[in-house]
Amino acid sequence: DPAMEAVDVLSGVQPTGQAHIGNYLGAFKTWVELQDSRRCFYCIVDLHAITVPWDPAELRENLYDTTAILLAAGVDPERCILFRQSDIPEHTELCWLLSGVCAHGDLNRMTQFKEKSAQQKDLVSAGIFIYPLLQAADVLAYQADEVPVGEDQRQHIELMREVARRFNERFGETFTIPEHRIPEIGARVMDLQEPGRKMSTSVGFDSGRVYLLETEKETRKKLGSAVTDSGREVKRGEGKEGVANLIGIYAVATGKTEDEVEAEFEGAGYGDFKKAVADAVVEFLAPVREAYPAIREDEGEIERILADGAAKAREIASVTLADVREAMGVGVPRG
Ligand code: TYM
Repeated sequence: DPAMEAVDVLSGVQPTGQAHIGNYLGAFKTWVELQDSRRCFYCIVDLHAITVPWDPAELRENLYDTTAILLAAGVDPERCILFRQSDIPEHTELCWLLSGVCAHGDLNRMTQFKEKSAQQKDLVSAGIFIYPLLQAADVLAYQADEVPVGEDQRQHIELMREVARRFNERFGETFTIPEHRIPEIGARVMDLQEPGRKMSTSVGFDSGRVYLLETEKETRKKLGSAVTDSGREVKRGEGKEGVANLIGIYAVATGKTEDEVEAEFEGAGYGDFKKAVADAVVEFLAPVREAYPAIREDEGEIERILADGAAKAREIASVTLADVREAMGVGVPRG
């Protein structure tokens, strides 16, 4: 039975509207690659976006921006199920149901919760605390086998596995235990100015991150002034986080291994190397940049794609939720 062997994939992205090459190399690139061999569910998680301060009008705009970026990057609604999280009420319902088998202490240990709540000045929302549980619901509602993400999501995936295991133990086999799928290179793209930490929209300055939609000139400038070190070797190693980061970026952009990149630049100076990285990244991003404006302009078409994705997604999520309610003794019993 081919359906038995099918591997289902789910992943999500927050609608920040400002995707950077970390998102692309860590996640979107894999999303695009998996579309032909798996049934893929890709979700723009607008409900996760309301765990930190937001502007309602901006959230809508950002959702369109992010959806258009994915489409421009090659996420193809003919080959995957692309949808908006808030269109599927099963996600929030499952989040609540899972809260009955998730330990407060487990959520309290999440490093992203600690970091993000420390950044909040006015209000640390309850939402930011249960955030990983909503993320678990995103995946478990589809019985996904694999979750392609960057390294920063590892702990969240561990938590969803634990919650699913605990549920299955208590109420009988209900959920597939998902596996993460983290790329070998590009899983942790570092900030260009502070290579000790990951590239992120929420920390640091624009100079540290390359946005997918910025101009070629901006990309060249940022990569040209990326922090390296006082040495001169294009090699990974102790105290060479900046160079190692550029080696990784160049490797993914050109499809080479990191060893090949080191060999290619043996004896070359940092200046030449950075120039080559900039050329490669600009070329790599060009198709996304070129495709984006026309896609973004047609909001009607974006809504149509999302509605179509939501209809397909809901069919699957509703089956899982019926099983979950029944197993937990919630709602009208099955006849
Ligand atoms: P988000 O929106 O922060 O990031 C989207 C994806 O990009 C990856 N990523 C990176 N990869 C490499 N280097 C970086 N510097 C870098 N920064 C970000 C992330 O690992 C992610 O794969 N909570 C999630 C969204 C989410 C989700 C889900 C993911 C919601 N539900 C269900 C998987 C499954 C998030 O905020 O990702």
